[in-house]
Amino acid sequence: MIATVPSNRISKAAAPDFTQDLDLTADEVRYLLELALAVKRDAPRHARALEGRSIALLFEKPSLRTRLTFELAIRELGGSSVGTEGKIDAREPLRDVARNLARWVDGIVVRTFGQTVIDELALWSSVPVINALSDSFHPCQALADMLTLQEKLGGLRGMTLAFAGDGNNMAHSLMLSSARLGMNFALATPPGFGPDPAVAAQAESLAAASGARLSITTNLEEALTGANAVYTDVWASMGQEDEAAARHKIFAPYQIDERALSIAQPGAIFMHCLPAKRGLEVTDAVMESPQSVVFDQAENRLHAQKALLLMML
Ligand code: CP
Ligand code: NVA
Repeated sequence: MIATVPSNRISKAAAPDFTQDLDLTADEVRYLLELALAVKRDAPRHARALEGRSIALLFEKPSLRTRLTFELAIRELGGSSVGTEGKIDAREPLRDVARNLARWVDGIVVRTFGQTVIDELALWSSVPVINALSDSFHPCQALADMLTLQEKLGGLRGMTLAFAGDGNNMAHSLMLSSARLGMNFALATPPGFGPDPAVAAQAESLAAASGARLSITTNLEEALTGANAVYTDVWASMGQEDEAAARHKIFAPYQIDERALSIAQPGAIFMHCLPAKRGLEVTDAVMESPQSVVFDQAENRLHAQKALLLMML
C-alpha cells in the first residue's frame, strides 16, 4: 500500500525572494548599495562567500548582461551555476520544476514573460527566487541603476530621474525604486503607453512617504525639464516584436537626441539598460556622448548582483 504523503509544498518562511523591487525594503536597498560599493572596491574579500553554493539560471528570453553578470558574480564569489534556456514549464508544471530545483540548488534566477511564472516558482520553491526580468519588472537592473545614479550624482534624494518612452518593465522598476528612495521620477510616454495603473498607484504612495515627486505625462519636454538623469529603453520589448513597426512610428517623438538631452539640467547623465536601438529611442551621438553612462550601468550589474546574492544567500 502506498502511504499518504503530506503536501510537498514547502514553507517560504526561511527563503526571501526578489520577485520584484518591493521585496526588499528601502533600508535593505540602501544596505545593498553600500555592500555593492564595498564589493566593487574590494572584490577579493568576498571571493569565497558562496563556496559550496549553486544557483540555477532559467532564461526564457535572450540576455547578454543579466545572464553573464549573474554567472560571473556567482563564480567570483566562489559558487557555481547551472542553467536552462527555453520554456520553463514545457515538460512539467512550474510547481514541480520549483520543487526539483529546490532539492539541488541554493537559489533560482529567472527571466521570463509573465510575472506569474516568477511568482509561482517563488511560491513553490524553498530556496530564494530572483527576478532577472519579467514583462512587468526588471528589479536587478534597477538596483544597478540606483548604484550608478548614486555614484554619478553623489546621492539620490532630491535628484530627478526622467524616463522617456514605454511605460514598461524598466519604467515600473525605476519608478518604484526612485519613489521610495526619495528620488523624483518623471515619466513621459505616448498616450496609451503609460505604466500599469496599479504600479503607478504603489509608486504614488511610496513617493508620498519618502517626499519624492512623481509625475506621469505624455509631454517629453515637461518630463525632461530639470532632470539630473535621462533614461530611455527600447520601444518594443522582448515579446513585442510583432508590434515593433507600429510602435516605432508612435514613439518617434520620444527619441532622446542631443536636443532632447539639452532640455535636462546641464551635464545631466544619459542612461539606458541596454541593448539600445540606435536611431530609434536614442541617437548614436547621445549614446557616445560624454554624458552617457550606459557602460557604467552595465558594469554595476555585476557589483549590485554580487551584493544581492550575498544578502539573499
Ligand atoms: N539590461 C539587460 O538586462 O540586458 P540583457 O537583456 O542583455 O540581460
Ligand atoms: N524593456 C526591455 C528591457 C531589456 C533589458 C525588454 O523587456 O526587452
